[in-house]
This record gives sequence, C-alpha cells and structure tokens, in this order.
Amino acid sequence: MLRVEGLHKSYGRVVALRGVDLEVSPGEIVSLLGPNGAGKSTLVSIVAGLRRPDAGTVFVGGVDALARPKAARSLIGLAPQDLGIYPIVTVRQNLTLFGELAGLRGRELRTRVQEVAEALLLDDLLDRLAGELSGGQKRRLHTAAALVHRPRLLLLDEATAGADVETRAQLVALVRELAGEGSAVLYSTHYLQEVETLGASVVLIDKGSVLARGAVAELVARHGGSVVELRFDGEAPVITRDRPGRQPERDGNLLRIPTAEPGPEIAAAITAIGAHAARLQSVEVVRANLETAYLAITGRRYEPGEEIERA
Ligand SMILES: Nc1ncnc2c1ncn2[C@@H]1O[C@H](COP(=O)(O)OP(=O)(O)OP(=O)(O)O)[C@@H](O)[C@H]1O
Ligand SMILES: [Mg+2]
Repeated sequence: MLRVEGLHKSYGRVVALRGVDLEVSPGEIVSLLGPNGAGKSTLVSIVAGLRRPDAGTVFVGGVDALARPKAARSLIGLAPQDLGIYPIVTVRQNLTLFGELAGLRGRELRTRVQEVAEALLLDDLLDRLAGELSGGQKRRLHTAAALVHRPRLLLLDEATAGADVETRAQLVALVRELAGEGSAVLYSTHYLQEVETLGASVVLIDKGSVLARGAVAELVARHGGSVVELRFDGEAPVITRDRPGRQPERDGNLLRIPTAEPGPEIAAAITAIGAHAARLQSVEVVRANLETAYLAITGRRYEPGEEIERA
C-alpha cells in the first residue's frame, strides 16, 4: 500500500532524511520510532504530499505520489503531529468539513461522521466548539478527522501525544481494528508500550537513516539485552566492570549496566560502588524489551515525559 524508496530531504544545511526505504502492506501497522529530530514527521509529510523530497520515490496503492499527488492523497488519511482543527466551529462541523474535503457527501458523510465520533469517544461532544475542547479531546478530534473517509493508508504522527490513558488505549484499539479491516497504517510514537500492544512492525530511524527494522520480537531478541539500573541520591559514581560485556553508562543519578545475568551483576555492582552504597536509592532490573532494544540501537534513553510536555 505504501512503498518509499531512497528518500532524501534537506532543509538548507539540515539533512532530515538520507536514503530511507519503507514499505507498509494492507492490514499492516508499521510503527515509526526514533528520537526527536530523527526525521519521522518529515517522512510522513512527504508521503502525504505536503513536502517534496530532494530524491526518491513514493508509491501509494500503486500510484506515483510525487507525479500524481491528488490521486495518492485520496487514499490517505493524515493526522499530522501539529493539531489542525478549526477552533471556531463545532466538532461535527469539523468532521463534516474534513469528510467533504475527502469527497464524502450526503447520508454517507453523516453516517461516517457519527461512526468516527463514536470510535473516538467524541459523540457527546459533537455540538461543542472545537476550540473549547480539552487538549486530549482536540487530539481525538484531530485524529478522527483523518479517519472520516476510511483511508486505505493511515498516517498517524504522534496521535497519542498528550492524550490520557483511556484515550490512548481507545486509539490503539481503533488502529488495530482499522488494520484488521485492511488499512495500512504508518504510526509514529514515542510510547514504546503502544508499539508492543499494536503488534506493529518497527522501523527505527535516527538522523535520517533507518537503523533497524523488523517485528518487535525480532528486535528485542537481536538487540534488547537486560539492564540493571542503580539510582543514586546525587551523581552516579564511576565504576569499572570486571565482568565480560559492555561497560556501565552514567546518566545523571543513574548507573545503567547492560547484562545477560542481572543477579550476579547486581552483586558485583554493589561491591564495586563501595562507600557510594550509602547514596543508593533503588536497584532495578529492566528485562529485555523494546525499550532496551531501542536504547541499544540508538545509544540513548527513551524519555516519553519530554513528549508529553511538548504536546
Ligand atoms: N520546516 C523545517 N525547516 C527546517 N528544518 C526542519 C523543518 N522541519 C524539520 N526540520 C529539521 O529536520 C530534522 C527532522 O525533523 P522531523 O520533524 O522530521 O523530526 P521528528 O523525527 O519528527 O522529531 P520529533 O520526534 O521531535 O517529532 C530536524 O533536525 C528538524 O530540526
Ligand atoms: Mg515529529
């Protein structure tokens, strides 16, 4: 349903994409992961026809999206990272407008507006002004607007940023349902838990390049060793590790030790920190999961908290 090849994009001197290839089949959810500035939104906006790449090809349902952007656009539902709703009209009018833009009319349009409103828990809010909704409600409306015309390719760029637990769960369930009905979904997020729940395959990009791709289980098996984390009151001490394997990483008050054997590792670490043990606040074993895999691949720590603030 989506095939992207060799995509390059620079903004002046900033290289946002350096040769990205990506495919999403009908019924498949591909989750696009990567740190802030990795190039996710740039990729999504090129696929949606909002920006032109410097090089590369984009095919949507077999349509050359760069040569025939209108034809491709009719197959796409886009919820960009930045909210795009009309604050001075109601929720119903917003959804109707987006439906009309996508070519829906009459009874079909009214039915679809009702259906997406129900799916995104907006049915009680249909006659409220969009500008008076809460942040999470706006985000739901924004996402609903991308879905009114049942797109065959759904592009969701951080759709759950800033949404509450219930909304996020609801949205994730809805995305699974849409994929179950055959839609292809490209889903960018910073919440790794969602990716595991979605049963999505992963494309992990950083600095404009794909660093890893595959099913969650594959990535975890290949990259996601367990980690022992020691948290200190104040700066974490420097320790050297006499066991085989990677050296501990210090990150503020956190000491992170990648390891295949958390138990013995903890015992060794407690000895190694010596008198610093008095400042030790907690010891945690983070079992291999998508987060540890992500960390190993990007060499960074995931901080979803930053995203919530930014949303
Ligand atoms: N309109 C623009 N003009 C100039 N530079 C831009 C523009 N949009 C994005 N960039 C730069 O391109 C790079 C990729 O940005 P992009 O928004 O695609 O990242 P992202 O992966 O979506 O990040 P985030 O997780 O923060 O949303 C960044 O270095 C960013 O500063
Ligand atoms: Mg982005």
